[in-house]
Amino acid sequence: MKIGLLGHGTIGGGVDQIIGGIEGMEVKSVVSLEVDDSFRDRHVNGIDDIVNDPEIDTVVEVMGGVEPAFTFVSKAMKAGKNLVTANKALVAAHYEDLIRLSEENGVSFRATASAGGSIPWLVNLSRAKRADTILELAGIMNGTTNFILSKMKNEGADFDETLREAQALGFAEADPSADIDGADIRRKLNISANIAYDVQIPEDSIDTFGIRNVTSQDIRNAAALGRTLKLAGFSGKTEDGIFAYVEPVLLPSEDVMAYIPSNYNLIRYRGAYAGIQSYVGEGAGRYPTAYNVVEDLFDILAGEKHFYTVTAVPAVPDNTAPVHRYYVRTSVITPGLLEMAEDRQDGYVITKPVSVRGMHSFIREQLIRDPAAFIAGIPD
Ligand SMILES: NC(=O)c1ccc[n+]([C@@H]2O[C@H](COP(=O)([O-])OP(=O)(O)OC[C@H]3O[C@@H](n4cnc5c(N)ncnc54)[C@H](OP(=O)(O)O)[C@@H]3O)[C@@H](O)[C@H]2O)c1
Repeated sequence: MKIGLLGHGTIGGGVDQIIGGIEGMEVKSVVSLEVDDSFRDRHVNGIDDIVNDPEIDTVVEVMGGVEPAFTFVSKAMKAGKNLVTANKALVAAHYEDLIRLSEENGVSFRATASAGGSIPWLVNLSRAKRADTILELAGIMNGTTNFILSKMKNEGADFDETLREAQALGFAEADPSADIDGADIRRKLNISANIAYDVQIPEDSIDTFGIRNVTSQDIRNAAALGRTLKLAGFSGKTEDGIFAYVEPVLLPSEDVMAYIPSNYNLIRYRGAYAGIQSYVGEGAGRYPTAYNVVEDLFDILAGEKHFYTVTAVPAVPDNTAPVHRYYVRTSVITPGLLEMAEDRQDGYVITKPVSVRGMHSFIREQLIRDPAAFIAGIPD
């Protein structure tokens, strides 16, 4: 297998190193903005050098972002090259296009590392669908926010201080918005739900609320309620369609998801036959992620010819279906909130069961009145 590597940063460098020790795989050419001595002799000027090289059969895209990544991988697939990517932004934005390109050109398309880093989640999800029906999926799918929430809980640290530490340790990026506002989880949930239910959900139709506003008082309030605060994605089948949302959640202490430490991820599905199956592992990082990219390359060598599904029916989540209570912390108590309230405590309200769509609409408006407001779902 001769590989064209697009991107030689954190993950690309790891992929290059791991492949260096594998017989039968070779990174022949590298496209990257910066060049260092480890690949100077294999650096090429641009995607056309890879597209026009008949020896290269597979492209690994680990540049990140939607463009120019999509233009590059489209050219490569049209030229008959298989695609492996770890890029969730690309897969979430161009899900149907990439599946179509793979089908039309008879090339493989794998993206296991795009949801869960090292965790063999997408491959097992697609495997599970063969004999089972996926009823629900859920997960802590972002190590940065889990690191922040775990540390706030265990050490009583405040949000800003913990975020700075996550940045210093390389878990959080200089601009942490995609992590703390939930967009990173939204993309991974999007890809997972698409595969689980054979649909194509527009990314922006997934209700999303992150942990930008979480305070150490929220963590203490959660503990007083006997619960643990996490940020997670949820999706499931309803009678008429599907639901999908990302939000902070107060998990009961006995839920295994409440125990997931530091920068680890847990992703699970509930199958009609298999029941709950959970996958835990390192959700990011150079070698864990690069490892899963290389596993995809082995799958291609073993003859995997497609993506995990070839069906992608357009679908918009119906988040009026899932209903549960919410923790709402806000300094501005509105008549609408009072109407929803089941219990009022010092500084926060516990609502009656309300729909996810209703609460996410409420918090979008409430942030205009109280920019520090915070919500978390309370599953039964
Ligand atoms: N980091 C993780 O833990 C992790 C986990 C799971 C998935 N991923 C995904 O893996 C992908 C790569 O992430 P990363 O952390 O490795 O990012 P990174 O360290 O920023 O590396 C990106 C690489 O792509 C190159 N690049 C960017 N734009 C380019 C362009 N227009 N033309 C040519 N080369 C270009 C960069 O070159 P320069 O260095 O010269 O800028 C760099 O070598 C992303 O899609 C990310 O979401 C990452």
